Amino acid sequence: MSNAGLDSAYDVAAVRQDFPILDKPLPGGMPLVYLDNGATVQKPRSVIEKLVECYENYNANVHRGIHSLGDQVTTELEAAREKVRALLGADEVEEILFTSGTTMSINLVANAWGRKFLRAGDELLLNEMEHHANLVPWQQIAHERGAKLRFIPLTADGRLDLTALDDVLTDRTKLVAVTAMSNVLGTINPIGEIAARAHARGALVLVDAAQSVPHGLVNVNDPRVDFFAFSGHKVYGPTGIGVLYGRRKILEAMDPFLCGGNMIRRVRKESSDFAELPSKFEAGTIPIAQAIGLGAAIDYVQGLGFEAIAAHEHQLTARAFDQLQQIPGLQIVGPGLAHRGSIVSFTVEGVHPHDMAELLDRKGVAVRAGHHCTMPLHEWLGVTATTRASFALYNTHAEIDALCEAIQYARQVFRRK
Ligand code: ALA
Repeated sequence: MSNAGLDSAYDVAAVRQDFPILDKPLPGGMPLVYLDNGATVQKPRSVIEKLVECYENYNANVHRGIHSLGDQVTTELEAAREKVRALLGADEVEEILFTSGTTMSINLVANAWGRKFLRAGDELLLNEMEHHANLVPWQQIAHERGAKLRFIPLTADGRLDLTALDDVLTDRTKLVAVTAMSNVLGTINPIGEIAARAHARGALVLVDAAQSVPHGLVNVNDPRVDFFAFSGHKVYGPTGIGVLYGRRKILEAMDPFLCGGNMIRRVRKESSDFAELPSKFEAGTIPIAQAIGLGAAIDYVQGLGFEAIAAHEHQLTARAFDQLQQIPGLQIVGPGLAHRGSIVSFTVEGVHPHDMAELLDRKGVAVRAGHHCTMPLHEWLGVTATTRASFALYNTHAEIDALCEAIQYARQVFRRK
């Protein structure tokens, strides 16, 4: 599909050629309209080739082998870590920990930081738009430590209500855990203001950046945050690799979360001393090829430029907004365009979101339906499920049109019933 007549800072048709899967017809022969990018994005050839290069040419374990393949793979892995550091604007490469994904990154903080530093009566500040991965780990550690969860209220249009922040952010708040971009509402949260106000109260700030990193909201020093978690597979890299950024002093003060090989300095029969950062938090064999593939993904998105990607995705979201709002009975959840990234979730009167997704699939349009791992948010919305379309750097305006036509088709099918 072309992007004819619409300006983009890069040639979308040419970019699509970088993604082998986008060209492949679905089993029924229809072209794929992939709008489930919030779940995972497709991979450019350069990332796929990097994985093949790794396994074909320098597959070995890292930091262990005193042989040339081991040296080569370790050099590649550490080059990828440096790319992540540069992407995030972190001060030190040792502050970049490889994990299996955002979920593991947040669980690491909840367990390793929370178990050591939370005391009875301490508070953790969350909000109802968080993904379960940035909610359930905090519930568990709060139960264990006798800490209390508090919640920043939401405005009627699905933003954080910072006018109420001082009611819930207190001297007892030890950490604020907040998403940079909601995976359902698309809301982009004002991390700078939240972090400044949290730090003024002496609280740490953890940012769930799973949804925001692909759209360029990446810096850990501007605004300054303490923990920052994201997944490789949502930023055009492989699955199975994620990142946790943490400030050196805080990471050094934390005890390890997972224990085993590679994370120790000295093991005795009854006790052990732990390795320096980042190894202290990278027990066992980490996802090596995946981390190296993430490096290739970072090269790819930086080649296009985050600004250009964000501008293109904003155009797509604006077009979706415009057209979806004209469909009778369709209700978009979340704020207006000025406050959101390229995610649009909605309900359509008379069509259950799961039926909607199935009918869209008949037209080749892939979306996600359900509670999107945000049950409290859906409770707040007053619905059990929504349908979500989420856009990436390779989507076209024609695909937005295809989405809207497919929704109209679904409405007709249900009208006939
Ligand atoms: N967290 C991913 C999503 O929102 C899987 O779809």
